[in-house]
Amino acid sequence: MANKDPVKIGVLYSETGATSAIESSQLLGTLLAIDEINEHGGIDGRELVAVRYDPQSDQQQFRVLAEKLVTTDNVNVIFGCYMSSTRKAVIPVVERYNRILFYATLYEGFEFSNNLIYTGAAPNQNSVQLADFMMSSFGGRVYLVGSDYIYPYESNRIMSDLVSQRPGGERVARRYVPVDAGPGDFNEIIADIKDKQPDFIFSTVVGNATQHLYKAFAEAGLDPKKMPIASLTTSEVEVAQMGAAAAAGHFTAAPYFQSVDTAANHACLEKITKRYGDKAIPNACWEAAYFQVHLFANAMRASGSDRIDALMPKLLGSEFMAPQGRVRIEPSNHHTCLYPRIGRVNQKGQFTIVRASTTAVVPDPYLVTHSLGDWTLALDEMGN
Ligand code: ACM
Repeated sequence: MANKDPVKIGVLYSETGATSAIESSQLLGTLLAIDEINEHGGIDGRELVAVRYDPQSDQQQFRVLAEKLVTTDNVNVIFGCYMSSTRKAVIPVVERYNRILFYATLYEGFEFSNNLIYTGAAPNQNSVQLADFMMSSFGGRVYLVGSDYIYPYESNRIMSDLVSQRPGGERVARRYVPVDAGPGDFNEIIADIKDKQPDFIFSTVVGNATQHLYKAFAEAGLDPKKMPIASLTTSEVEVAQMGAAAAAGHFTAAPYFQSVDTAANHACLEKITKRYGDKAIPNACWEAAYFQVHLFANAMRASGSDRIDALMPKLLGSEFMAPQGRVRIEPSNHHTCLYPRIGRVNQKGQFTIVRASTTAVVPDPYLVTHSLGDWTLALDEMGN
């Protein structure tokens, strides 16, 4: 008789702590995909069931709960993590027990594990395009502000390299704030920015602290038309936290924005709004969290098993029509082919897409090449 047992999957997204807002959006993307899969008969008649814990934005909790998912709940596959520090805490667990972690967040690159699938952007799919765009639009003197942990350190190193490779490129300063920074933590940095007058600011501040940087910038009377903040981590979620007035005029590079005009995105937005109303704030990390569950389900249908030996060969090279466009897992490095885009926040708190690649860029997590995609053919509403 056919196996009709539910398929349990581990889900680790924080609902409390410093990155609770963005991770809660990833949780809703995951749950939407699970619902869709179950409404269409599950995986060959087997219901997909999330075993969910709240790791509280804490890397120790991520490690402990990943181990619990594997050893107590017997899951073979885990979906989760936002901060790179939390991914680094879970990797030894999935490697030791030979399970799979699906990671749906942009990150600093320079990593590979046989036990991971990376569906967020690697630096050649966001940092390279952002550096090109900001330098040609505003100039090459960049001031770096980040949260104090591994992703900002490494992302800043890459941005510094990219900027210094071009004439006029210069890192003016590099500053870090605690991951749980509050409003007062940015005043001195903003005063220094006012003093040093960079051409643009690169923010690797993450999570709930992001709003305080942008609000301090606005309160100091700085003008995003002259000296904008550019980021990879300021999504629609952080914009909603700070409000459109503080966010308008600043830039983010990501493979997906709510404003992406594809049939798959319109259909997905309609479904998520129907299910969760204003609670869901779609963004690039939400979208990757959503489509990676579908990639998993399709691979499991093809393999008949969620065990890594059977599943991984079906995952590698697999494709899915995601809201951003057709994505594909690159077999050579387990990262995903994605569509670089640059958005500028508008008065409604949405991103107006000012440049976009119409072809997917193959992930190159070790930055061996610096291809921009078909960047020269891109939309450019800035007139640059
Ligand atoms: C991140 O820590 N990868 C945003």
